[in-house]
Amino acid sequence: MRILLSITTLAFFFSISLVTAQNATFTLPKLNYAYNELEPNIDAQTMEIHHSKHHQAYVTNLNKALSGTKAATLTLEDVVLTAGRRSDAVRNNAGGHYNHSLFWEILSPKAQKAPTGALLMAIEKQFVSLDSLKKLMNQAASTRFGSGWAWLIVTPDKKLQVCSSPNQDNPIMDVSKERGIPIVGIDVWEHAYYLKYQNKRGDYLTAIWNVLDWGTVGQKYEAALSSPLLLRIEKDTWTALKDFHTVMAQTFHPAEEGNLKPLRERSAEMLAKATLLQTAPIPASFNKAEIKKAIGDLVKGATDLDKTVRKKGKDDVLLKKITALHDTFHIIQGLCEE
Ligand SMILES: [Fe+2]
Repeated sequence: MRILLSITTLAFFFSISLVTAQNATFTLPKLNYAYNELEPNIDAQTMEIHHSKHHQAYVTNLNKALSGTKAATLTLEDVVLTAGRRSDAVRNNAGGHYNHSLFWEILSPKAQKAPTGALLMAIEKQFVSLDSLKKLMNQAASTRFGSGWAWLIVTPDKKLQVCSSPNQDNPIMDVSKERGIPIVGIDVWEHAYYLKYQNKRGDYLTAIWNVLDWGTVGQKYEAALSSPLLLRIEKDTWTALKDFHTVMAQTFHPAEEGNLKPLRERSAEMLAKATLLQTAPIPASFNKAEIKKAIGDLVKGATDLDKTVRKKGKDDVLLKKITALHDTFHIIQGLCEE
């Protein structure tokens, strides 16, 4: 027992030191071009202030907001994906860092003026032409009230979609209505254009296309199609799975610590959520025989657990049954990641 404790203690301190060592410190990315190289479309002063002041502030404030928190070890993608569970400071600054990093990458003084290959085919299939896509993007950008971004995203069903978001939110975030991986982002905060274009957002939106590099966007399109992040976003949109997870977490964890009250009070709700998971549509990538079978097992287990609760079963019996149900749930989670 004593040996076991020492090993546990060592493992605990080791994991602490690892956590400390792995704390992410985000840094401002360098641009692939000089501040004046996007002239006359974006002026040098705007570029310099935008990159070295605004973007730097997002990076500095993100590091500050994450410091000493559990989220400090997460990747930027993870922080952005789970923005709804973070503080406003983390959500806004992580979005600011992610969005601007993408923005600088897709701009170029030697921009490829039109898409080619798979991206061109997808644009023509969905939007008929590049011009009609640009019109939709400009519409999304000009109608975004206040500060925000207009996006071209790859959705979990591997389609292109135009959308916009407020402030520094983006479509990777769990708080966004439209979800997917952005491959074009147009910054419509006034700081992106005010020095040169003042209140004429439309003129800025006309000019931005002259420096938008469709070569880089094409690479981003192909990377997004096979990105594990796309699968994670798709799983995140599976509301029935998330709802079941919530009830499971709120009943199983207290049960593990000897408190069976939440489980006794909510076993019927858990059964209802399991049944809903079985009957609600399953997102395409997870609509597989082995996942459906595991969901069937989950319903059986939840039915049995609810029956045992109603018969006022003993604590140890309930703990055994919810542990088994929790294992089944994790089989589903694991199958979704394959
Ligand atoms: Fe900006």
